[in-house]
Amino acid sequence: MENNKRPETMERITTAALAEQFIAEQVAALRAQIGNKKVLLALSGGVDSSVVAALLIKAVGSQLTAVHVNHGLLRKGEPEQVIEVFRNQMKANLVYVDAVDRFLDKLAGVTDPEKKRKVIGAEFIRVFEEEARKLEGIEFLAQGTIYPDILESDGVKAHHNVGGLPEDLQFALVEPLKFLFKDEVRVVGKALGLPDSMVYRQPFPGPGLGVRCTGAITRDRLEAVRESDAILREEFAKAGLAGKVWQYFTIVPDYKSTGVKGGKRCFEWPVVLRAVNTKDAMSATVEKIPYELLEKIVARILAEVKGVNRVLYDLSPKPCATIEWE
Ligand code: XMP
Repeated sequence: MENNKRPETMERITTAALAEQFIAEQVAALRAQIGNKKVLLALSGGVDSSVVAALLIKAVGSQLTAVHVNHGLLRKGEPEQVIEVFRNQMKANLVYVDAVDRFLDKLAGVTDPEKKRKVIGAEFIRVFEEEARKLEGIEFLAQGTIYPDILESDGVKAHHNVGGLPEDLQFALVEPLKFLFKDEVRVVGKALGLPDSMVYRQPFPGPGLGVRCTGAITRDRLEAVRESDAILREEFAKAGLAGKVWQYFTIVPDYKSTGVKGGKRCFEWPVVLRAVNTKDAMSATVEKIPYELLEKIVARILAEVKGVNRVLYDLSPKPCATIEWE
């Protein structure tokens, strides 16, 4: 692919001053590229697409339409944060698509992890395509491609799935972060005024909570994943572990075990806690969560999450366990 090599003279963006310089250059370049035309962006709320959105808002304002698809597999508070930051604070032209029912209906009864990923990816393209067709005069498609995506794949962000848009919807690409490494994207995001919870977000897979609600996804079990994940994140943040542990989340497997609540036997799901550290996600070690913190998290999950009577802590490194359960 042409013009996909980071210029050797490009300085590593490590400070706010260097980020400001990058932002000024990119704003000028984006204005030159886009002119008075319109640009579309799939805004997941992840670091990369959020930084692209903030850059484009600065460069071309209302010529940007950002589409946020809520597929029902996002973490607690994420769609609300995207709306608050981009629509309310940054005054972006944001289309929020509530596609929760569509995705969950399509996923009903699908147990195979790869099939689940395919269903989510295909449905995402369909929803995004429908939104793109409603808009007139779009000529550009912005993407949060970063340098590791180019180094590791063919330059198209797999989980953005925009590579799958039909022929008549092939727009010219706008990829302002394509020569940046992740740490540089974060420095730029901070300089653009994005909140820390967005800029220093832990990695989150494209299929979202869908691969943490193992087997066939049901709404009630998905809610148990979302609520327990929110508790884990809240307690990690309070303990100063957010941003220090590489990835931490919960899984709710699709089986039940016996417990006792209020003197009565109950048959409910377990919640599995996972917290790992890694450099490249190829191998990972388990975070040694302090025991008192573990006890606090367990007590809160058992008291607050519906349908759960047991909490487990996954102590398996990668290999031979993968980071996700599916
Ligand atoms: P595993 O489970 O393979 O995960 O050890 C390694 C890293 O990749 C993330 N992951 C995904 N990311 N789409 C994504 O965008 C996916 O389908 C997917 N599956 C796993 C995982 O969260 C971890 O950071």
